[in-house]
Amino acid sequence: MIYSRIVGTGSYLPEKCVTNRELEATVETSDDWIVSRTGIRQRFIAADSQMTSDLATEAARRAIAAAGLGATDVDLIIVATSTPDMVFPATACIVQEALGIKGGAAFDIQAVCSGFVYALSTADKFIRSGAHRCALVIGAEVFSRILDWNDRSTCVLFGDGAGAVVLKASGAPGVLSSHLHADGSYRDILETPGHVAHGKVSGTPFLKMEGGAVFKLAVRVLEEVAHEALSANGLTVSDIDWLIAHQANIRILTHTAKKLGLPEEKLVVTVDRHANTSAASIPLALDVAVRDGRIQPGHHVLLEGVGGGFTWGSVLLKW
Ligand code: UT7
Repeated sequence: MIYSRIVGTGSYLPEKCVTNRELEATVETSDDWIVSRTGIRQRFIAADSQMTSDLATEAARRAIAAAGLGATDVDLIIVATSTPDMVFPATACIVQEALGIKGGAAFDIQAVCSGFVYALSTADKFIRSGAHRCALVIGAEVFSRILDWNDRSTCVLFGDGAGAVVLKASGAPGVLSSHLHADGSYRDILETPGHVAHGKVSGTPFLKMEGGAVFKLAVRVLEEVAHEALSANGLTVSDIDWLIAHQANIRILTHTAKKLGLPEEKLVVTVDRHANTSAASIPLALDVAVRDGRIQPGHHVLLEGVGGGFTWGSVLLKW
């Protein structure tokens, strides 16, 4: 039986850090409002010259180094992003070239903030099928480019960054299970409804969100997918060592933990430092908790994504 296992993690944040106080100078908001409603204290913003592929490549280099592998060992690259460098080619192909990888498959996945969970689940299935042996799975975003910086209800919430893992074929799991969901009837509560046609951008190229509706849906599905993953594996909430849910709002994370009866100490929280980095948020948080030694061999780590589409899902890992 072929399974897949994460053998290295890496992440990258741009140099420029913008605090809530700095935002007070450009939009009518306050550090108090942002911290009390979201837990966010700062976010990182990519330099004008940096594209999603640059962030993704740096995170990937770190994950490959942590795995003790060379770039040429990789035969599959999946980049989860809603802010690709361009309409095409896929950002994954641009990363492939930057890393000097020849051959294998490379493509992007668009599932907004659930993108990393979708990408990891896809890579797991490719590896289990025997078609690929070693995948780079990356979540990378420059959400700062699709924000209306005059709209205080959205611009304070997001940041840029990238996280990556190396997923290898293994005789033991690894990835214990993954469950993916979508419901397009919620498409308009979180969207960037623009597109390129006839040589012009039409529609709105800025992110729009009904915050309250998104909040409610997120709390509901994050609880549901946790139970789904646990029951599929014959486990209970007390078996979870770490819950790494999409980092959008500390209140969503603590509500979810409370509804599950999971101690808050088992939540990995980076939203305070990174803000919401969409598809990058889960692999960024995973890398932090691996590198600071919280995640140890044998631990059960539950990853949960939720985002535009609406999409949501989980990947349960045995570390
Ligand atoms: O990646 C997944 C996508 N995103 C999320 O998961 C976000 C989910 N939603 C949320 O996190 C929360 O709904 C928000 C943080 C977006 C908003 O929190 P809320 O407690 O639902 O606030 P609200 O939308 O009810 O707004 C309350 C007030 C409004 O003023 P009025 O109408 O009561 O006078 C807003 O205009 O806060 C105002 N407001 C702000 N005030 C200061 C909205 N944004 C700001 C701001 N600074 N940045």
